[in-house]
Amino acid sequence: FAYCSFLVEKDRQYICDVLCNGLARLEYRGYDSAGIGIDGDSPEAPILLFKEVGKVAALRKHIKEASASPNQTNGHAASASLANGEDSAEAQDGVSPLKSDANGHANGNSIVVAGGIVKSVDMSKIFLSQTSMAHTRWATHGVPSPLNCHPHVSDPMTEFSLVHNGIITNHKELKVVLEKRGYHFHTDTDTEAVAVLCKYVWDSQPNKRLNFTELIKTVIKELEGSFAFVFKSTHFPDEIVAARRGSPLLIGVKTDRKLKVDFVDVELSSDDRVEDPATGGLLSVPSVAPNGHAPQGPKIRRSQSRAFLSEDGMPQPIEYFVASDASAVIEHTKRVLYLEDDDIAHIAEGELHIHRLRRDDGLSSVRAIEHLEIELAEIMKGQYDHFMQKEIYEQPESVVNTMRGRVNFDTHTVMLGGLKAYLPVIRRCRRLLFVACGTSYHSCIAVRPVFEELTDIPVAVELASDFLDRRTPVFRDDVAIFVSQSGETADTILAMRYCLERGALCLGVVNAVGSTLSRETHSGVHINAGPEIGVASTKAYTSQYVALVMIAVQLSDDSISKTARRQQIIEGLYHIPKQIRSVLEMDKVLQQMAKEMLGKEKSLLIMGRGYQYATCLEGALKIKEVSYMHSEGILAGELKHGPLALVDEHLPVIFIMTKDSLYPKVQSALAQVTARKGRPIIICNEDDNSVSSEFKTFRVPQTVDCLQGLINVIPLQLLSYHLAVMNGVDVDFPRNLAKSVTTE
Ligand code: G6P
Repeated sequence: FAYCSFLVEKDRQYICDVLCNGLARLEYRGYDSAGIGIDGDSPEAPILLFKEVGKVAALRKHIKEASASPNQTNGHAASASLANGEDSAEAQDGVSPLKSDANGHANGNSIVVAGGIVKSVDMSKIFLSQTSMAHTRWATHGVPSPLNCHPHVSDPMTEFSLVHNGIITNHKELKVVLEKRGYHFHTDTDTEAVAVLCKYVWDSQPNKRLNFTELIKTVIKELEGSFAFVFKSTHFPDEIVAARRGSPLLIGVKTDRKLKVDFVDVELSSDDRVEDPATGGLLSVPSVAPNGHAPQGPKIRRSQSRAFLSEDGMPQPIEYFVASDASAVIEHTKRVLYLEDDDIAHIAEGELHIHRLRRDDGLSSVRAIEHLEIELAEIMKGQYDHFMQKEIYEQPESVVNTMRGRVNFDTHTVMLGGLKAYLPVIRRCRRLLFVACGTSYHSCIAVRPVFEELTDIPVAVELASDFLDRRTPVFRDDVAIFVSQSGETADTILAMRYCLERGALCLGVVNAVGSTLSRETHSGVHINAGPEIGVASTKAYTSQYVALVMIAVQLSDDSISKTARRQQIIEGLYHIPKQIRSVLEMDKVLQQMAKEMLGKEKSLLIMGRGYQYATCLEGALKIKEVSYMHSEGILAGELKHGPLALVDEHLPVIFIMTKDSLYPKVQSALAQVTARKGRPIIICNEDDNSVSSEFKTFRVPQTVDCLQGLINVIPLQLLSYHLAVMNGVDVDFPRNLAKSVTTE
């Protein structure tokens, strides 16, 4: 989020409030730390950086303290650093999160300025024009800490600063090249490589001929991965450049005057590149041409329209809000312009110009201002009617985020940094104890077979409340794994403390970074599914499932006899996102199925066995939670011991009958149900010809047996969602339920 004003008199407090409010609006997307960068007072302190771990509220408090206590000393340790167990590979070899730096890079929650640390800030200082930026971070590279928090800077004098969403996949290569050239890095993040690259490009041109846009263009041409950036520079005061590729970015425009044009004609620039012989073309900076002479600068064709001038052509007060999401902008203005991939927006002297990274790419050259009609809550849901629906549809991406940087599909290996040091202890343990509640408990049931198979360690799966009620014996050589989306479920936390007291190694598999479970366990894995808002858990389930399978695979990587199986599972994981997507594409069929069930059915059984038992339990829980219809997940092996008495011509029974070694047994359960005139709906594999055409079927792609539950659960999530909508239930907030149950 960035705020940029021109000829608008505002004091520093107002600017900080705009930034913090914008960040708070973006918090629903996930956060573990937050930071802002605002203009300083002098050339020696051109930018002030406030950074804090935790929620935006903590950042606000920090800013308030800085303004209220002029004699504050050099910051204190951040209050909420993640438990030792953060699993980012980068964190292992990176700088300690709270380590201070001689050059004044962030330590604790001090306010960093160029060349040092400031003790207090004058919040009443008035600016006529200024640029400022802010960011909430959800850790991907490096633990949540003030040091790793954005804005990131190129050097102690903060010549270039930036905020970034996305991942720069070639940051390691960039760091190596830049370090060879004498540049230093202070954080564990991929983003810092971009800041330092800006400085390198600037330093490499003796005549300093590049303007801000050209410079950023040169930088961006070297980047791989996805990004939305806002850049600020002491060399270009009161200017910002924003750019995107793969990550969303929009610009809100606020002015009282009528604008001359309501669109920007995109400027096209030349695509001149000069190879750097020293790096084999890795960095193509214009000033290091092979012949040693400064090359011709890029030829810019000036934009036809001078955008956003008032009708009389005179500069007018104007404010710009650059954000990754309209929710941060809408309280200021409803006039927004969405950037396209490879657009580079330059705001200077109150004008906005948009450039393309390369010319002649066939994209339209006009970016029009749109008038947002929608309200805040709707924006956060995007194109979806409910958060639950949005989160179901996010699963192709959320499972990728769980695997990102951890699964190597070439070498068929998994590396979870948080577990690395504990692997020998876990492999020697007496028992693996999984403890969780609700959906998280089901993800543990889902992976129990693969843990037993790959690790040869006895596995117990426990409901946290029951585990505590029984005061279950726990031993020092047990390893207890606590699985929780929120990391705040009271029963699971109490069970964890119970195990800690008894000396067991306690690991967390958690979505919410900085949560109690993530802080108090010895170590663990963040599932990185992104924030889940709908009370009924969906994407957290599939991400927990994937994370747990990854743990099982990593634990077994000392076993040569399991190599082929590991390879098969990792190849299976590779295809899961697109297979989930293909099930989502059949949503209409499930909507129709829900319609046919609606009103007629009082109850629904879901039956399966082996790997699919968890799918049955989770599907039934979803249906109960959001559609208020009775539903039960039944282990098909138990059919004869009771549930069969329920079966008649009225009761619908969903059979999970995808191909695995237990398929013949599920077939025989099906025969028992149909012999009693039951009405099965069968979830089976796409190419399964042995399922009679007389049955209603829903066909899903086939994957490795232990991963099939990731795909089979999707139709049940969608079915429960449609039943809920058709029943008029407040889908995201079903009656009597809470997202996070923080009492026993
Ligand atoms: C509540 C929620 C469920 C969730 C359960 C466990 O009951 O409604 O959706 O599965 O808590 O929550 P956790 O955050 O520990 O995974």
